[in-house]
Amino acid sequence: MKNKGLIASVAVVFLIIFGVFVFQMGKMNQPLTNQQDKKETIQTVGILQFVSHPALDTITKGVKDALKDAGYQEGKNIKIIFQNGQADQSKLATMSQQLVDKKANVLVGVATPAALALANTTSDIPIVLGAVTDPVGAKLVKDLDHPGRNITGVSDQPPVASQIKLGKELLPNAKTVGMLYSSTEANSKYQVEEATKAAENSGLNVKNYPVASTNEIAQTVQVMTQNVDFIYIPLDNTIANAMQAVVGEANKTKTPIITSVDTMIEQGGLATVGIDQYTLGKKTGEMVVQLLKGADPAVTPVYTFKEGVTVLNEKQAAFLGIQIPDELKKNAQIIGNATN
Ligand code: TRP
Repeated sequence: MKNKGLIASVAVVFLIIFGVFVFQMGKMNQPLTNQQDKKETIQTVGILQFVSHPALDTITKGVKDALKDAGYQEGKNIKIIFQNGQADQSKLATMSQQLVDKKANVLVGVATPAALALANTTSDIPIVLGAVTDPVGAKLVKDLDHPGRNITGVSDQPPVASQIKLGKELLPNAKTVGMLYSSTEANSKYQVEEATKAAENSGLNVKNYPVASTNEIAQTVQVMTQNVDFIYIPLDNTIANAMQAVVGEANKTKTPIITSVDTMIEQGGLATVGIDQYTLGKKTGEMVVQLLKGADPAVTPVYTFKEGVTVLNEKQAAFLGIQIPDELKKNAQIIGNATN
């Protein structure tokens, strides 16, 4: 009896030890296979955003949402490394190098200076242009339809002529328009040239007010308000970053501002015909997905938008004493109306 009991106890202890051993082996094996799986399927996307302002933040959000919509889940099958260059050229260069060193599968440059920094760092890793106004002028691609190297993406070239036309319709007595932009941004130079042609064709005088840095903006706007009937702002990152100050100064003399983007209308601009920034980001993200799946950037055409959406700020119009014609309101998105 005693012996039987002993044998049974030993058997039970042995079984427990054996069970624990098998369980541990299982646990050790599992993470190993998981890690191998991860290595095979996790891809890395590096996003470099030039600076933080509402439009670029919205674009980056759109990029991330498009990846999610396509089934990429962070930590599971995609790793997203986000860097913000804070409008600093040397930071942009360092961050570009870091993203390349981290072996990103696809890189995204949000705004022209970020895209240029990435393009200067690698000619191998596919780069997606996020909202670059003039990819050919900035020498990022050879041709919009046949980019030719490791770069393709989305251009946000806006309907400049429609923006100037809208300004004329809202301000029929205006004689002079002032262009407010940064002298360091290639994207703005191009757009100001286009806007100047359109303005002169519609009988307006044009005055240019380039600023060399953020510090000059408030004072420049003060000078402008003495010399122009309305202010026109292109897709300029430096000005977008200081929009609050621009509106603050312009409001002192009730000088209207026609912008190139809806986010600047939300911040106190009067009107635009612009490209929805979230849609722009989503399109950029869809392109990232195409490249992750193996599309060749050299033969993937740059996406451009055919038309924009009219956005009007009714509250600002009331403040400026401007009557918005009903005709214009029909197809427009209204911001700052009685119900907002
Ligand atoms: N198109 C700009 C560039 O090429 C970037 C940009 C996108 C932007 N949306 C904007 C700039 C809105 C100012 C405001 O750099």
